[in-house]
Amino acid sequence: MQSSSKMFTELLSTLPKHNHNIFSVDLYQYQGFWYDSKILEGVIQVQQQFQALSTDIIIAGWPKTGNTWLKALCFAIATRKQYHQTKNPLLTNLPHNLVPVLEIDFLNNPKIRETLHHSVLSTHMPYTSLPKSITSSGCKIIYICRDPKDTFVSFYHFFRRLHVLSTRVGGSKTDLDSSFHDEFDMFSEGKTTNGPYWDHVLGYYKASLDRPDMFLFMKYEELVEDPVFYVKKLARYMDKPFSLEEELEGIPEKIVKTCSFQSLSGLEVNKTGKYYVHESYMLDNNTFFRKGNIGDWKNHMTPEMAKRIDGITSERLRGFDFSFGQPIAP
Ligand code: A3P
Repeated sequence: MQSSSKMFTELLSTLPKHNHNIFSVDLYQYQGFWYDSKILEGVIQVQQQFQALSTDIIIAGWPKTGNTWLKALCFAIATRKQYHQTKNPLLTNLPHNLVPVLEIDFLNNPKIRETLHHSVLSTHMPYTSLPKSITSSGCKIIYICRDPKDTFVSFYHFFRRLHVLSTRVGGSKTDLDSSFHDEFDMFSEGKTTNGPYWDHVLGYYKASLDRPDMFLFMKYEELVEDPVFYVKKLARYMDKPFSLEEELEGIPEKIVKTCSFQSLSGLEVNKTGKYYVHESYMLDNNTFFRKGNIGDWKNHMTPEMAKRIDGITSERLRGFDFSFGQPIAP
């Protein structure tokens, strides 16, 4: 019998590949989306082995659309009766270490679920690649998306912080500018890790129209606009609504405060800690906290770049009652 790693290597050799030269990494196209080989290994393992439970709450989103924040909020909502406010694990852990990413943490430890005291999990996998057990288990999915222009700017800065690029770019303005433009082209063509972004959003959006009970579809911008409202909505969706007493005590507001950009980014663990992805990929926790603003793209993109992204967006969303940035009716 072939070892799974041999089968995986054989699979890789059959997949379309492109060198994401800015980040010195080969990406492989699998079921319409691009991944580096390690993440793809995790995706396939999830597809083959992950068994969802009807009680699971799965946070899904393209990278840099607000996953860290949403994880913190959902973790705080789910565990609010387990911990005293001053002992909340969010004060000493990066949210990604409290809410595992299926295709990363399941690969590192298939028994990861047994280490949790809650049922919140997460993934960056596209809807169309999720294992059947997720779509048939009756579990719930909370999807977050963000204006593609801000998503790209956040994505670019995040990857720029990774060691490979920082070595290659070396802080030189000329290189940085050209890498921004090159990476922008890649993003627009959908050839970045987990790309194309628009297909990812539309996959979940279309599924949420077919199965509204299974999805809560969120936008980063609406969370910024009215976090308390959305925390209450999240809690209801997670079957953990706030009681009247909790509302009178201001628990939703306290959760919003604990999970705010200012609070999380100021914690020692998030200023100095490291996040282990796999043996060749370790991130500083602070890479997950940059600015947390809406509209930062205006400080980075030329009007032509913004027009190009908006053009792709209106083309791809044509016919759907959906636009980025605008609140979806509660
Ligand atoms: P910026 O790079 O625009 O600042 P993800 O968590 O999906 O990787 O997304 C990261 C983006 O969310 C970054 O955006 C980051 O600063 C922002 N972010 C992280 N924590 C946040 C929080 N508590 N509130 C608002 N935004 C947050």
